[in-house]
Amino acid sequence: MFTLLLFAFAGLVLTLSTSVFFYYQKSNSLANIRGPLSTSWLYGNMREFSLGEYGVRAFQWQKLYGTVYKLMNCFGERRLVVADQKALQFVLGNPQLFPRAPEHKELARILMGQGIFWAEGPDHKRHRTVMQPSFAASQLKALFPCFQETARMLASQLQNKFSTNEENVVEDVCPWLHKAALDIIGTAAFGHPFNSLLSDENAVARSYHNLLADSMTRGPLSIVVDAILQYMPVTLLRLFDKLPTKAMRKLRTNRALTLGLAKDLVERKLEVLKGGMESEKDVLSQIVHANVSQDPQTKMTPVEVYSQVSTIMLAGEETVANTAIWALYELAQDPELQDKVREEIRETYAAAHARGDTDLCATDLDNMPLTTAVMKETLRFHPALPMSLRKAAEDSIVPLAQSITTVSGEVVNEISIPADTIVIANSAGYNRLESVWGPDAHLFNISRWAKERKISHDATLGMYANLATFLSGPRGCIGYRFALIEFQMFLIELLKTFRFSIPPGIRIKRELALVTIPVVDGDPTRSQRMPLQLSLVEE
Ligand code: HEM
Repeated sequence: MFTLLLFAFAGLVLTLSTSVFFYYQKSNSLANIRGPLSTSWLYGNMREFSLGEYGVRAFQWQKLYGTVYKLMNCFGERRLVVADQKALQFVLGNPQLFPRAPEHKELARILMGQGIFWAEGPDHKRHRTVMQPSFAASQLKALFPCFQETARMLASQLQNKFSTNEENVVEDVCPWLHKAALDIIGTAAFGHPFNSLLSDENAVARSYHNLLADSMTRGPLSIVVDAILQYMPVTLLRLFDKLPTKAMRKLRTNRALTLGLAKDLVERKLEVLKGGMESEKDVLSQIVHANVSQDPQTKMTPVEVYSQVSTIMLAGEETVANTAIWALYELAQDPELQDKVREEIRETYAAAHARGDTDLCATDLDNMPLTTAVMKETLRFHPALPMSLRKAAEDSIVPLAQSITTVSGEVVNEISIPADTIVIANSAGYNRLESVWGPDAHLFNISRWAKERKISHDATLGMYANLATFLSGPRGCIGYRFALIEFQMFLIELLKTFRFSIPPGIRIKRELALVTIPVVDGDPTRSQRMPLQLSLVEE
């Protein structure tokens, strides 16, 4: 037995050391790319990059080294951080050359199963073909009342926090926005009302509470573990899912509960379809159709169908909730801006009433320039997913929009990326480029979205407003239109009802837990929290 274990250990060490050796050989051609000096062989630059207030060091390095720079990961592995527009377009536009790294694909499987986020190549194309119609603008317009109703329920539940004669309450807005986002996804995508704004009874809804914040918060150990995982074969990576840690237990519970719900929803939908009811375009109808489809271009297996439910719930819930939370934070710091946005909301309602409508309609959202500017600036300044990792499948030459100076002093406008290099697609970095956004790129300033101010359009990227927030290419966010309507409805209903301010003595910082979460500075638990002071707006 002991000999067997010894052999297994020796095998593992040999695999690791050979992989590391070949890795170094391959990544040597990155030696000429500039980047910060590594402060530790064990951690490289990763502690500065991903721990503490997220983005602070990364933005400094971007300023020093340019839109592409090299970062040391653990054990001397070199990674490439890319915020250059052309390079991002190349990397994200060619998923066959730059697929997800196996360990990140595995993380996607642990979090969401084998759905669209996990799939690659022709399988991914098939998933995308099936899901695309559910996210078309026309389909989303039809869902407008659902967004509106939930946003109102959110405002009304927060209003219940005020007891008689109370002028202000301090409330952590995080759980509220997360519940509202989950309720919208449940109803709009799957016709399943979680009603989590009304009660905490639903076990599936409860399992989403702080899911990423509790399981994905970074620490020195997780940095090293991540670095080791990339040298492991996928079969070993799978064992990771079985670890008896609190974080993995939380993820497993969430997955099991969501799987149970998905099976139930699919069965019920199949009954409806068998009954000859007309087909709809919501996500559930699309994936159930795909399950029974005979066409190999659109056929989905039961596992893929169930995984789509987990994928849409997580991808849609965490991102929108966090974005809306950051928007409230920015508005809470700027009462004047808040008043102006509130006035625009009031005028939009007044115009709807004047034309004889009792309520806003979807097209009203297109005529709110100030609210839209706040949304764009929040998406720019606080991208929910600040980066995404890809691994070069083969050697490639990647063009740059902005030339960089190499270690040897040469100015180059293309770089060579060797196979196996991990590329960090740095969306947060792109969103702060002074060459694109101007010298005030590091300030939250909605006036950059005014028509008169021209944003550099030599560089355009992404699916919306030249932002990298939803990334771009065939794997860019499928749900961005959904997100925008939802985000806007949250702002409209919340600002119509409340004034927000920062409670005295509170400083918020941004931490990375796959998504960027707010944490109260000095809180040793580092839990996701955004306490804001709310007061009621007089009618
Ligand atoms: C502000 C809100 C949102 C942001 C910032 C956001 C951002 C992103 C980003 C950056 C990606 C690419 C990730 C990667 O490749 O590593 C992505 C993919 C995706 N998003 Fe979103 N998202 C948002 C809202 C939504 C919503 C509301 C839904 C669904 C209702 C959704 C569904 C998806 C799906 C399914 C993918 C995978 C697409 C694919 O691989 O083809 N997202 N999102």
